[in-house]
Amino acid sequence: MKKIANHRHITFSQFLQKRLGAKISPDLLPRRLRILGHVAILWLNPKIVEHKNLIGNTVLEYDSKIQSVLKRTAGISGPYRQPAVELIAGSPDTETVFKENNVIFHLDPMKVMFSVGNKTERLRMSQLGSDELVIDMFAGIGQFSIPMAVHTSPRLIHAIEWNPDAFQYLSQNIKANRVHDIVHPHLGDTGIVTPKLGQGTADRVLMGLIQGTTKYLEQGILSLKPGGVMHIHEIGLKNDLETKLLKILEKTAFSLNRQVKLLNMHVIKTYNPSFDHFVLDVQVTEK
Ligand SMILES: C[S@@+](CC[C@H](N)C(=O)[O-])C[C@H]1O[C@@H](n2cnc3c(N)ncnc32)[C@H](O)[C@@H]1O
Repeated sequence: MKKIANHRHITFSQFLQKRLGAKISPDLLPRRLRILGHVAILWLNPKIVEHKNLIGNTVLEYDSKIQSVLKRTAGISGPYRQPAVELIAGSPDTETVFKENNVIFHLDPMKVMFSVGNKTERLRMSQLGSDELVIDMFAGIGQFSIPMAVHTSPRLIHAIEWNPDAFQYLSQNIKANRVHDIVHPHLGDTGIVTPKLGQGTADRVLMGLIQGTTKYLEQGILSLKPGGVMHIHEIGLKNDLETKLLKILEKTAFSLNRQVKLLNMHVIKTYNPSFDHFVLDVQVTEK
């Protein structure tokens, strides 16, 4: 069908209800849509999954820039943090490109994760790192490294990633944003690569992984200069995680003859009804 208009003057929810409300219970229709370049992503209530193609084809008409519609079937998972998604309408060519905060991101949302809900944290990272040596231990496609390099010109960012698909987009995004003199990509396990970058060299370490971050705390702490700062992400029960994580951090730092000082803790987003995604900023000094 030829697309001639978009309907973004009404909300996505209003649009779907207007188009499909007579066939599908409006209460069950999706209310939110994520759009990355030409790819739209939505969650479907399992009760209406039989209508997935009808819903997908309707979404294609919501905005003329949407060419592919994906349904999320679960959260991101596995060692490569891959999304569980299924194409429900439109083009199977889901490799896309978009701009956020003047940063170009190439990715394929069928293969790699990009959390729209982390936008504020990407903005925050884009204001840090000036003249610093930074290690991004879980770089993904460059969600934090590239905005930082584009906006604050660190001396050097080591961006480590072990998923070959994410690494390919990380390399492509470094090129697209012309930050190859700042961001050096490393393909490999951060547990092995980080120590090779030298102990006590980094001004800042980014640990943007959830569910598993604590396994790599030792490498992160040891790579920092005295007074260096770490940003550690995790998920946990609301109002509980920061204390739990801080305790683990203090214990690990102590065993390495270091101490940590909490600079800031905030919630990035609600992960699910009981869990939040947090980030802790800590400063590491010698004991
Ligand atoms: C959840 S994604 C987050 C990407 C980005 N830091 C962000 O917060 O938007 C975590 C990334 O870390 C990578 N990763 C996980 N464990 C790793 C390891 N041991 N070594 C290198 N990369 C790893 C995964 O492949 C994934 O791309």
